[in-house]
Amino acid sequence: MKRVKISPSLMCANFISLGTELDIMKAAGIEYLHIDIMDGRYVPNFTLGPDFCKGLSAYSPIPLDIHLMIEDPDAHVQKFAQFPGAVVSFHPETSRHPLRTIDLIRSFGARAAIAVDPSMPASAVAEMLPHVSLVCVMTVNPGYAGQKLIPETLGKVRQIADMAAALDHHIEVEVDGNVSWENIPRMIQAGGEVLVAGTSSLYDGKASLARNIERMRSLG
Ligand code: DX5
Ligand code: ZN
Repeated sequence: MKRVKISPSLMCANFISLGTELDIMKAAGIEYLHIDIMDGRYVPNFTLGPDFCKGLSAYSPIPLDIHLMIEDPDAHVQKFAQFPGAVVSFHPETSRHPLRTIDLIRSFGARAAIAVDPSMPASAVAEMLPHVSLVCVMTVNPGYAGQKLIPETLGKVRQIADMAAALDHHIEVEVDGNVSWENIPRMIQAGGEVLVAGTSSLYDGKASLARNIERMRSLG
């Protein structure tokens, strides 16, 4: 069975001790750093931006998993797609021609990905799957950490994992939103391969980051 990959959600990190946290993640073999980019338009919130990504990329060798929750991604992908090893996801409904946006992301050197809103059926992204290397399936509404799982989205994780398995290249299925200790087994069962870990797990504030990473590894 393939090992589950962990992508800590850095909007939930303690910025005062971010360097130490990144060192812990590196030592623990963390696979990705999940960075939520919000523009106050596609989602009501604002979070991190390109300078933050630049600082992370200069400090840590862990590949960036950049989740764009923004309108007009074509106007902005260049600022995010040039970090070595990065994967950049966008929400297809924000682009008039998603396949063009995918090509644009690739043209700047990143791996391309799409993010699927909870209201969007798996069938809506079927034609995009052959063109991406990761699909971020959102299990809460985009915009905020600390929300509750929308349970119907787990069936969609399964559907997308099955659709991806039928293709001739590997697609990582990522689960984003309320990836809690309780929900993780179901998310893995449904075919989740990359887990976005925020306030529901690594940043639950109940144990140290290192301890919580160990706990997460023990689940998958
Ligand atoms: C949104 C974010 C959140 C969050 C994950 O795209 O990625 O889902 O930070 O952490 P939770 O949901 O556990 O607070
Ligand atoms: Zn995200």
